[in-house]
Amino acid sequence: MDQQVNRIGVLTSGGDAPGMNAAIRAVVRSALARGIGCIGIRRGWNGLISSDFVRMDTSSVSHIIDKGGTLLYTARSDEFRTVEGQDKALGTCKLLGLDAIVAIGGDGTFRGALELSRRASEAGYKLQVAGIPATIDNDIGCSHYTIGFDTACNTAIQCIDKLRDTMQSHERCSVVEVMGRHAGYLALTVGIAVGATAVLIPERELDFQRDIVEKIRRARLAGTTHYMVVVAEGAGNAMEISRRIHEEVGIDPRVTVLGHIQRGGAPSVQDRETASRMGYGAVQAIAENRGNCVVATQEGHMVILEMEAALKMTKKFEMDRYQILEALTNNCGNI
Ligand code: F6P
Repeated sequence: MDQQVNRIGVLTSGGDAPGMNAAIRAVVRSALARGIGCIGIRRGWNGLISSDFVRMDTSSVSHIIDKGGTLLYTARSDEFRTVEGQDKALGTCKLLGLDAIVAIGGDGTFRGALELSRRASEAGYKLQVAGIPATIDNDIGCSHYTIGFDTACNTAIQCIDKLRDTMQSHERCSVVEVMGRHAGYLALTVGIAVGATAVLIPERELDFQRDIVEKIRRARLAGTTHYMVVVAEGAGNAMEISRRIHEEVGIDPRVTVLGHIQRGGAPSVQDRETASRMGYGAVQAIAENRGNCVVATQEGHMVILEMEAALKMTKKFEMDRYQILEALTNNCGNI
């Protein structure tokens, strides 16, 4: 039988992503609008383990929609992977009378949430969990889009546009490493958007001659005297790529690792709007007793997926985008 939802917890876990604050705001305000109380759990799952929480009201999420980071802090919790850690977390849920948790983060966060819900059920306690996908890597199988990706891409292209200015003046080659963990979504999107000479992604096996040497050569033959090579962190090490370019092409690249700068900054309209819709959708699903679920996007629409099934889903890497990149850069270098 459906259970009345009186109080939910919200937390952010894993690497932060611009738009997490907008998602927290949406969860809190959507809950309050339904007469559901909301508790902010600080520092991810660690906060649930150690009872580190804050009561949320409508003003506690004022003026955060435009802020990067997460006001609830975030962490990757090793303790939550253990049975002892999960039992402590469940103890906090019982103590606070939480009927549901909205977990904002990546698929590791969702796995933890599902595990917690199962342990709760074994203990005779009903705890719904809803996941909101947020990571700059865009690497969650069940969702076409993850909160933070668009802002991170915009940050990366702003940096690379600046690098291009100085590479152009000095007629140099730039090797730029972008984040993405084991995925190349960020690198490929950014590479297309900056008109990179070459982009290295983990989804495509590297052939150094074909993928770098030939591309720099063609660009030079087309009249270009500066080159932009974008490397996904999961595809190789920028220093090593630079060393090989020097060795095989005879030019002396400059290396830039963009790093954590990609995780900060004011969220873009896409991230604010998606986070707002997902936060609203998560609370709606919980209120309708549809947890355990993930609020995802598919074909541009928001969908509520059953969490266990969602965690098994994989996303096809759109390799035709790589072909687009090649078609636009091969013949004329990087413009
Ligand atoms: O998952 C987000 C991400 O920024 C990845 O792109 C990157 O590999 C990783 O987190 C970095 O993690 P940390 O912040 O722990 O250094």
